[in-house]
Amino acid sequence: MAEGDKDTARPGPHHTGGQTRGATALGEDFAGESYHADLKGQRNYHDMLKLDQLLSAQPVITGEHDEALFFILHQVKELWMKLMLHELEAVFPHIRNDDLRPAFKIFARVKRIQENLIQAWHILTTMTPADYLAFRDGLGQSSGFQSFQNRSIEFIFGNKNRAMIRTFEHKPEIARRLTELLERPSLYDEVIMLLARRGYAIDAAVLDRDWSLKRGKNDSVMATWRDIYYDSDKHWGLYELAEDLIDIDDLFQTWRFRHRNAVERVIGHKIGTGGTSGVGYLTKATTIRLFPELWAVRTEL
Ligand code: HEM
Repeated sequence: MAEGDKDTARPGPHHTGGQTRGATALGEDFAGESYHADLKGQRNYHDMLKLDQLLSAQPVITGEHDEALFFILHQVKELWMKLMLHELEAVFPHIRNDDLRPAFKIFARVKRIQENLIQAWHILTTMTPADYLAFRDGLGQSSGFQSFQNRSIEFIFGNKNRAMIRTFEHKPEIARRLTELLERPSLYDEVIMLLARRGYAIDAAVLDRDWSLKRGKNDSVMATWRDIYYDSDKHWGLYELAEDLIDIDDLFQTWRFRHRNAVERVIGHKIGTGGTSGVGYLTKATTIRLFPELWAVRTEL
């Protein structure tokens, strides 16, 4: 830390907010620096982050070297998904209250998380087909296809599909939670309801429908976005919201595409452990548009 930063440093897991009780000197190289050495009974980094649990939660199935990368990468991605869900849940009330400023703050964070999720595929390219095949049989029928957090994110964004819940029937609580997400309005549905509250003429059928169905393009929603994009100065907040959504859709599609390519590098066109056609299935998924009118409106401007 630069000398000038000392005053603005905030307490974190490695910083105790200026307490000096029990401080121990660091020695000659760090003259004047001290640290807390006696942590018995004190809140500390290791216990606070539950590192014993976290670092012993990596399965060893075959003991092959690259299994560690495979499991840690999945777990890291699940943690980022957990944070993304936490943020996305928090954005709903802001949209419902027509309060866009805090929503923009959350979207900025969601996008950074997505960038991290995309970046993380790079490391998978260091795993060759032979490295993966060495432990693949040990995975049985396990697959990211069974990631309930990924499916939750898809449902929240509006990529609804009831059939996807079947794979969670062995986990009734998760199946129940996914059914709840399936049957409630998606984030994009909430945005369209906001457009209607702001006075735009949105078809009644879009505002009151079976939320469990994936929606297609609608002319009244298209016309609304067209107005907003034509006169962005007048509708700045909604324009910014639309651009945030298209960023998120773009990043999500990039995530799918990078996964699809990483998978082809490793298993070619073999069938997936989850039972799908593998790369064929993943390729179809790369064409999904979460917010269809926001893409289509560009052709009309
Ligand atoms: C060598 C590494 C990997 C391979 C070979 C692989 C392969 C596949 C395949 C073939 C599928 C299609 C479903 C099926 O299994 O039949 C799939 C789906 C999926 N994988 Fe991976 N994957 C790998 C790594 C990862 C990692 C690190 C994650 C991180 C969480 C992940 C997340 C997902 C998700 C979320 C799906 C569902 C996609 C959807 O339904 O749209 N995969 N994977």
